[in-house]
Order: sequence, then structure tokens, then C-alpha cells
Amino acid sequence: MARKIVLTSGKGGVGKTTICANLGATLASKGLRVALLDIDIGLNNLDVVMGVENKVVYDIVDVISGKCRAKQALIQDYKYPSLYVMPSAHTYLKESITGEHIKIVVDNLAETFDYVLIDCPAGIDLGFHRAVSAASEAIVVTTPHISAIRDADKVFTILRSYNLISTSLVINRVRGDLILEKEMLSVDDISKLLKEKLVGTIPEDDEISTMILEGGTISRISECRMAFDMLANNIHFGTDLIYDCTHKYKGIMGGLRRTLKRKI
Ligand SMILES: Nc1ncnc2c1ncn2[C@@H]1O[C@H](COP(=O)(O)OP(=O)(O)O)[C@@H](O)[C@H]1O
Ligand SMILES: [Mg+2]
Repeated sequence: MARKIVLTSGKGGVGKTTICANLGATLASKGLRVALLDIDIGLNNLDVVMGVENKVVYDIVDVISGKCRAKQALIQDYKYPSLYVMPSAHTYLKESITGEHIKIVVDNLAETFDYVLIDCPAGIDLGFHRAVSAASEAIVVTTPHISAIRDADKVFTILRSYNLISTSLVINRVRGDLILEKEMLSVDDISKLLKEKLVGTIPEDDEISTMILEGGTISRISECRMAFDMLANNIHFGTDLIYDCTHKYKGIMGGLRRTLKRKI
């Protein structure tokens, strides 16, 4: 039976889809069977990020309406054979889809996968509740910016009214250089503010934007690859290693990198 994890944030554009895709790919690279579920109905995104939008035949609404079976709507990833995406619909009267519908799809997938990762739409309205009610665990994504942190706080409060096994925090787009310059809140400050379990930090990394343009998940050995590896290990094995985004900006070489980064 799969672990059913929703990635949510309240605020849009903080990296839910990016983290869903790359966490899924990292777990799949360890041989685990992972299904990614895009439930941002009408604003499909995950299939584009994964570079499989050309392979879409059926989507989640087709599954819900009984037009096809869940298996038929799953698209296998090019790189990791145990990674699948179920795309959301391009257009649909989304109000007619309920949390119960999503739950049936998720529970169905849970029988054959190790992980079902649910990519939640932005906001805290119907789409959010649909996604959360189908999950048993939640990961809240924030960036180090005040507006995102405040929204994450609200989301954690709402999540308390759900019967979730666990809730945890991922901080995305962390700039180690700015933290050392005291121009950005540190990861410690943010976790203390939110008083939630931190399971990972992902640095701001140009490779992420490039990879999204190309379609697909990160492959080269890079900073964010290491960060995703730690995140996946913390989730799967229960380890407690958090990627230190300031590391490469410390010491003489680090100081040089910091100066260069500010000049770009
Ligand atoms: N760690 C990161 N470093 C650089 N760019 C990132 C990072 N995380 C996300 N992005 C970029 O931010 C944008 C929004 O990310 P996305 O995952 O679509 O957010 P959401 O799903 O929360 O709306 C995308 O263009 C993505 O490439
Ligand atoms: Mg998204």
C-alpha cells in the first residue's frame, strides 16, 4: 500500500510541481514505484514539467468519469521506468469533481505503487480540500519569502483539521549567499517560525528552470540533485539530513562565489 502524500503551499509559484516531479524521480531512481497525480484541474502542469504532454491520451477526469481505467491514464516517465504521471484535465467543469472522486483514484493507485504524490493547486479553496482529503500525509512547500511563509502557516493550521498521519515542511529556492549576507531568513529561522518538522531544503538553482524548459527532471550531479536526494531519504528512510545551502558560500572560495553571484 502506497504512502499518499500531498504537496501543498497556499501560495502559488513556490515550487510544488517542481518538487513533486523531482522528489518522484528521486524516489523512482531508488527503485520505488511512484505515481504523480496532477489535480490542478484545467491548468495541467505536471505532464509539461515531466516532458510527457505529447503522450497524454486520457486524464484524471476520464478516470473519474469511467471513460478509462486508472492504469490507462498513467504515462510512464522516459528516464525512470517505475515513475508514472497521471495528468489533469485541460478543461472541465472542475466543480463537479469532489474530494471523494480524487480519493477513489488515489486509493486505486495506492494498491500498485509505493508512493502516490499529489500535486495540489494553489490556494486554499475547493482544489486544496480535494487534494488533502485524498492524502494521508502532507508536505507544505514554502520559499524563504514572508508572503509564502505566512501562507504556509495558514495551510498548516487548516491541515490540523484533517486526519493526517504527518505534516512536514520543505523550504525551496533557498539562497545560501543571501542568508550569509543576512538578507534572507535562514532555514532555522523559518522552521522556528512555523514550528513544523523540516524534511528538506532545496537551493535556488538555475538548473531547475532549464530542466523545466527542456521537460524532465534533473539528471546532472548538482546541488539541487543532492538536496532532492536528502529529501527523498528523509521521507523514505526517516533520516534527518538537511541540505546546507550556505555551505558552498563559506570559506575563501565561498566568499568569492558570493561576490560573483551578487555581480550577476
Ligand atoms: N529551487 C528552484 N530554483 C530555481 N527555480 C525554481 C526552483 N523551484 C521552482 N523554480 C521555478 O519556479 C517556478 C514555479 O515553480 P512551480 O513548481 O511551477 O510552482 P507551483 O507548482 O508551486 O506553482 C517554475 O518556473 C520553476 O522552474
Ligand atoms: Mg504547480
